[in-house]
Order: sequence, then structure tokens, then C-alpha cells
Amino acid sequence: MTISLRRWLRADLPAIQRLLLDTWLDAYGPFIPREDLVGYLHAQYSQSKLETMFDDPDVTGLVAEAEGAVAGYAKLYHSRVEQRFYVHQLYILPAKQGLGLGHRLMACAEERARELGADRIWLGVMVKNAQAMAWYKKLGFTAIETSPFVMGSTTVDHFVGYLPLPLPKPGRPSGDEAVPAPTFPAS
Ligand SMILES: CC(C)(COP(=O)(O)OP(=O)(O)OC[C@H]1O[C@@H](n2cnc3c(N)ncnc32)[C@H](O)[C@@H]1OP(=O)(O)O)[C@@H](O)C(=O)NCCC(=O)NCCS
Repeated sequence: MTISLRRWLRADLPAIQRLLLDTWLDAYGPFIPREDLVGYLHAQYSQSKLETMFDDPDVTGLVAEAEGAVAGYAKLYHSRVEQRFYVHQLYILPAKQGLGLGHRLMACAEERARELGADRIWLGVMVKNAQAMAWYKKLGFTAIETSPFVMGSTTVDHFVGYLPLPLPKPGRPSGDEAVPAPTFPAS
């Protein structure tokens, strides 16, 4: 499979919105009703809200393409007020999970964090999202607090914490095609 990483383009925003819904339904569907996920998407990730994020200089979007189509997405946020570097969103389409896209996007996030002088990556993850929690724990995730996260009529617990840098490097499974070491992709 051909995989490539790059910064997002304005033309990616409709594909990113679809990716968010597909991934949320799969990951959060077991504990958040569909209507709340769809409502939250339209309220917080409408095309106009995504355009606003795209234009925010403190936000960096990355996409991972598989066979030329958007298959993964990460939104990085540099909070000047908190002096924190966040991976605000990291989503891989269900059919493309487990192929290394998440690790590659995190490697790019790490590179961006270092450019900004950060020694850790902050993130939040829903307590009931066991698959992602296990994945982040392998990367060294330390939760420092639990806070409520509201999606429509549903409130779930959300761990907020950080990954210390450098991130551990994953062992590449045998048979995987050679992929160059990640460098932070240009637009
Ligand atoms: C959690 C999530 C971001 C992880 O991304 P992913 O692309 O599925 O994960 P990866 O393929 O990078 O890593 C999974 C495993 O595959 C292995 N792997 C397979 N191919 C690989 C490759 N080419 N390079 C590196 N690792 C590879 C890794 O070793 C890794 O094993 P590990 O967990 O023991 O390190 C993704 O599954 C996802 O989007 N889940 C649903 C939504 C979600 O919960 N997002 C997070 C919200 S906070």
C-alpha cells in the first residue's frame, strides 16, 4: 500500500469531515448515540468551523493518504496561553487502522512539537475508548486529570494528560514496505 503524509490543504476539509464521522461512529458508537455524534460534528466540525481552524496559525493539520485517498488525520494545536503543544485530534479510518498511520502522524507531531520547543505532547482521550487508551499507554501516556466531555445529550469522562518526548519507536512488522523516516511534511 502506498502511504504518504503531508500537511492538510483546504481542499481536504470535506474528506476530513467524512473521516471524522466514519471514525467516531466506529470508535464512539458503542457508548455515544449516533445522533449526538452527528450533532456534534455539525456543531463543531462544520465546513465553516474547519475553515476557521485551517486559517488559525496555531493549528496544524496533517493528513495521511493511503493509495492517494485521505485515510488519517491529525490536528495539532499550539496553545500559547497554556504553553502546551496538543495533538487535539488523531483519527485513522477504521479500515486503515493498524497499518502504522497513527505512529507516522505522531512522529510528525513530535517533530512539530520539537520545533516549537515542547518536551511533551498533550492530549485527551475518552476513558471508554479502550483501544486508543491502550495505544497511547504504549506511547507513555500519563493522565493527570479526568474531565467531562459533552457530545450533545451525552457526557463521558475524558482523560487529559501527556506523552513525554521522545516517543518510543515502534518495531515495524515484518513484510511491511520500506517507508522513509518521517520528516515534517510541507504543504
Ligand atoms: C488509535 C489510533 C489513532 C491508532 O492509529 P493506528 O494507525 O491504528 O495505529 P498504528 O498502526 O500506528 O499502530 C498499531 C500497531 O500496529 C503496528 N504497526 C503495524 N504496521 C506498522 C507500521 N508500518 N509502522 C509502525 N507500526 C506498525 C504497530 O507496531 C502498532 O503496535 P503497537 O500498538 O504495539 O505499537 C487509530 O486506531 C484510531 O484512529 N482509532 C479510532 C479513533 C481514536 O480512538 N482516535 C484517538 C482519539 S483520542
